[in-house]
Amino acid sequence: MPKPFQSLLKIPPVLAPERTLLDSAGRKVSYYRIRQTPGLAGVVPRFMTPVLGYNGIFPGPTVSVEQGTRISLRMDNLLPLVHPQYGHVLNTSTHLHGSASLPQFDGYASDLTPKGLCKDYEYPNFQPARTLWYHDHAVHKTAWNVYSGLAAQYHLHDPVERALLPQGRFDVPLTVSDAMFAADGSLSFNDNSHSGLWGDVILVNGSPWPVLKVQRRVYRFRVLNASISRSYRFALSTNDPVTVVATDGGLMPASQQVSAWRHASAERYEILVDFSKYPAGTRIELRNQSNKNNVDYDFTNRVMAFDVTDEPVNTADHTWKTIPTVLASSTTMDLKPAQAKKTRTMRVQRDNGRWTIAGTTWEEVIRSKYQKVVADPDLNDVEIWQVENHSGGWFHPVHIHLVDFQILSRNGKPPFPYERGPKDVVYVGEGETVRLLMKFEHHRGKYMMHCHNLPHEDHDMMAQFSVGLKIGDVDPNDPITAAPAHPEPD
Ligand code: C2O
Ligand code: CU
Ligand code: CU
Repeated sequence: MPKPFQSLLKIPPVLAPERTLLDSAGRKVSYYRIRQTPGLAGVVPRFMTPVLGYNGIFPGPTVSVEQGTRISLRMDNLLPLVHPQYGHVLNTSTHLHGSASLPQFDGYASDLTPKGLCKDYEYPNFQPARTLWYHDHAVHKTAWNVYSGLAAQYHLHDPVERALLPQGRFDVPLTVSDAMFAADGSLSFNDNSHSGLWGDVILVNGSPWPVLKVQRRVYRFRVLNASISRSYRFALSTNDPVTVVATDGGLMPASQQVSAWRHASAERYEILVDFSKYPAGTRIELRNQSNKNNVDYDFTNRVMAFDVTDEPVNTADHTWKTIPTVLASSTTMDLKPAQAKKTRTMRVQRDNGRWTIAGTTWEEVIRSKYQKVVADPDLNDVEIWQVENHSGGWFHPVHIHLVDFQILSRNGKPPFPYERGPKDVVYVGEGETVRLLMKFEHHRGKYMMHCHNLPHEDHDMMAQFSVGLKIGDVDPNDPITAAPAHPEPD
C-alpha cells in the first residue's frame, strides 16, 4: 500500500507530431501516431503494475494543439488479443471527449479496431480552447480498458486563453483516478455488480497522492476526473477558495470563486490557485470531501499536496498574479431557452437489473442494427433536454457527444457557480433533475450519449441520437462503415 505524499507529481510527455503539412485547402494538418500497447507502471512500492497504455504509459501522452490546426491521428492497436488479467478481447475504439468530431472519428462504441489493425482519426480543432481527453470507448468493455490505463489529456489552445491564463509549466494537467491493487501490485477490478469501482488509492497523473513543488505565483490546473466511477468534492486544506475559469467546453463567461466543487467522472474544471499568499515552506493539500454514494477508505479524502518554494518568480509574466474575472462568451453560453424548438425528457435509472438511459440500452441499439435513436434534432436545432434521476441510491454523470451544453437548472434552481460554463458532462445527482440547453451544430450523423460511470455505461446505460438525418437517409458519415480500421500500410 503506497503512502500519501511520497512521490513527486509527474507530468505526462507532450506528444510531438510526426509531421505538419498543408492540405489541399491550405489548412495545417499535423500527423500523429499512437501505439496502444501493454506497459509497466511504478505505482506501488517494490512492484510493477501492468497497464495498457497509449504508447504504453498511463496517463498517455498529452496532445497539445492550436485552434485551426487539424489533426490526423493514427491509432495502432498493438495490444494482446485478450486482456491479460480480465480475459476479454481487446478491440478498441478511441473517443476524443470534448471534440465535435465527425461520427466516424468519434470513437463510436461499436466501431472497433481489432488487434493488429490501425485507424486514422481526424480531429478538426476548430472549437474554442478547452481541456479534452481521449480514452477507450470499446463497446461493453470501456470500464476495463480505461481502468487499465487507456486515458490521456488533450489540450486545445486559442489566443484568448493564451492571453488570459498561465501557460507552459504553470499550466498543469491533473488527471485524477482511483485504483485498487492486488498483493502482486496488479490492478484489481471489482465493480460491485456493475454499480461502480471504488479504489482505495488515489492517483494523480498515475502517481499515488503526489506532491508538486510550486512557486509563489498563480497556477492553472486542468483537473480531469478519469476515475471510472468515483466522484470527488475537491477542496484545499486551507479552505481558501480556488478560482474556476473553465468547464468541459472551455472558458466560462466569468470566473467563479468556490471553496469546494463536486466533480464526476469525465468532467473537466480548470482552476487557478494563487500560491503567492503562502510563505515558502507551506504545504497545501488538495482534499476530497466526497459525495453521497461513493465508497471511501482511509486515504481517499486526500488527493495531492502542493509544497510552496522560494524559487524566484518571473514577474514579467503578467499571469503570475492575475486572476481574471471576465473571461469569454461562447455560442453555448449565449443560447437562450426561447430558441429551443423542443424539450425532451429522459430518465436515467435501473430497470430489470440493467442501467438504462432514455428508456433504452446499447444492446437495443445493436439489435436495431444501429437504427434506434432517442432524439433526432435537425442540423442547427436548439433543444432543451431534461434529464431526471429519481433514485436516491445513485448519481449519474451524463455525457452527450458532439455538443457543448449550458446547464439551465438543477431541481428548478440555478446550476452551481462552477458549472456556469459550457459543459458536455452533467452531474445528475440523487433525486436531481437537470435542464440542458444545446445546439446540434457542425455535423450530421449519429452520436452516443451515456452515463460516464463506466460500469453503468457498459451495462448498458448508453443510447444514441441522430442529427440532421431522416429515416431511410443514406448516412455518408456512418460511424462504423465510413472510415473503418485497416492494416498498417507498408
Ligand atoms: Cu468520455 Cu462517450 O465518453
Ligand atoms: Cu465524449
Ligand atoms: Cu450512471
